Amino acid sequence: MNVLLIGNGGREHAIAWKLAQSKNLTRLYIAPGNPGTAQCGENIPISADNADELLDFSNQNDIGLVVVGPEDPLAAGLVDKLEAAGIKAFGPSGGAAQLEADKAFAKQLMRSSSISTAEGRCFDRFSDAKAYIASRDESVVVKAAGLAKGKGVFVCDDPADGILAAEKIMCDEIFGTAGNKIIVEDKLLGEEASILAFVDGRNIYVMESSQDHKAIGDGDTGPNTGGMGAYSPAPVVTDELISHITHEILVPVVDGMNRNGTPYKGVLYAGVMITGGGPRVLEFNVRFGDPETQPILARLKSDLLEVLLAVCDGTLDRITLEWDRRPAVCVVMASGGYPGDYEKGKKIVGLEDAQQIEDVIVFHAGTKDIDGDIVTNGGRVLGVTALGDTIKDAKERAYRGVEKIKFDGAYCRRDIADKAIKGSGD
Ligand code: AMP
Ligand code: GLY
Repeated sequence: MNVLLIGNGGREHAIAWKLAQSKNLTRLYIAPGNPGTAQCGENIPISADNADELLDFSNQNDIGLVVVGPEDPLAAGLVDKLEAAGIKAFGPSGGAAQLEADKAFAKQLMRSSSISTAEGRCFDRFSDAKAYIASRDESVVVKAAGLAKGKGVFVCDDPADGILAAEKIMCDEIFGTAGNKIIVEDKLLGEEASILAFVDGRNIYVMESSQDHKAIGDGDTGPNTGGMGAYSPAPVVTDELISHITHEILVPVVDGMNRNGTPYKGVLYAGVMITGGGPRVLEFNVRFGDPETQPILARLKSDLLEVLLAVCDGTLDRITLEWDRRPAVCVVMASGGYPGDYEKGKKIVGLEDAQQIEDVIVFHAGTKDIDGDIVTNGGRVLGVTALGDTIKDAKERAYRGVEKIKFDGAYCRRDIADKAIKGSGD
């Protein structure tokens, strides 16, 4: 079968790497892809938001499945367009993608489905938001309701900072129209985990757990990023918690989406805070997480293409997945300055040396091939991912890979997986 994968991040390199191992794959195309995905298939210069060209390409190249990686084309209804043309597509419809693209929609669904989340209110006028935040005397979390590349959330220690955040989002429009509405919610305390599940409209298959590192600085300090590293499994997520999250969060979402007339299929990602009072939802994403996908798929032994097709066909109940028992750790190497301004075009060396280390895979994200030289082309540049016998081994191996790779201004967190190492007693 020919497959077209949409996107160009580290997540897409990991998906492409895994799809390339599938026994039923004939040709893999990636639009637009990156130099990493070019090692797994053929990159096609069509951007992820060009639905018409993607549709034409699919028709002309006998594409049996389109896999949509990022949230923007999902929210824009790419899957609906492909399916209307008779092309099988992995990912939710535009209506169902509102679960991520509109945090007010997600809050409403959680409320009506009795899913535990932070108390929150939605505002579309700055003056109302300001008055509400000013009336509170504790920490608040201010979120743009729309898509903001993982950077739309401000965790504020006092109301004055909260008002400033609301002003930046609503008045200065730092996230454009994504900030026309905001959510102001209570700050939750605990440890975070990412629970990703395949959903085929009815059946749910929960993948191995993982944990992201959203903040730019060691010890979870500084502004939020798209994610600076991840590991899988997350020791904080016990079997009992998985069962609780499945029954109290995932099943009610899938049921609620069916009741809404927006049935859910694709990857359902619940970002949860494990509080003293149990897991509470921070956000839903409607796709594979980035960088969580890198360590998760590094551990998947089964054929990914088979699973994605089962999701599209509504036959997920016939699938069992096999996972590598070894943990995996992904360390993101970023451009200096990210998540603020940064320069591009810095030559990257040492990629081959890093790959030589056993069980290390270097996933590309913001990279570009210029006449055979790989240069930086984004904020998050690479995801150096390693498997190890223990989480500590996996961490050490991933950082050994990082040491081999050099580019001007390269930055990474130094504490990826430390929480898991503490939790596992390694
Ligand atoms: P979101 O995109 O909504 O997951 O938010 C991004 C990050 O902000 C999360 O991964 C958390 O680290 C943090 N965050 C979001 N909501 C809350 C909350 N209610 N309490 C504490 N931290 C939060
Ligand atoms: N790692 C967080 C996300 O994919 O949104």
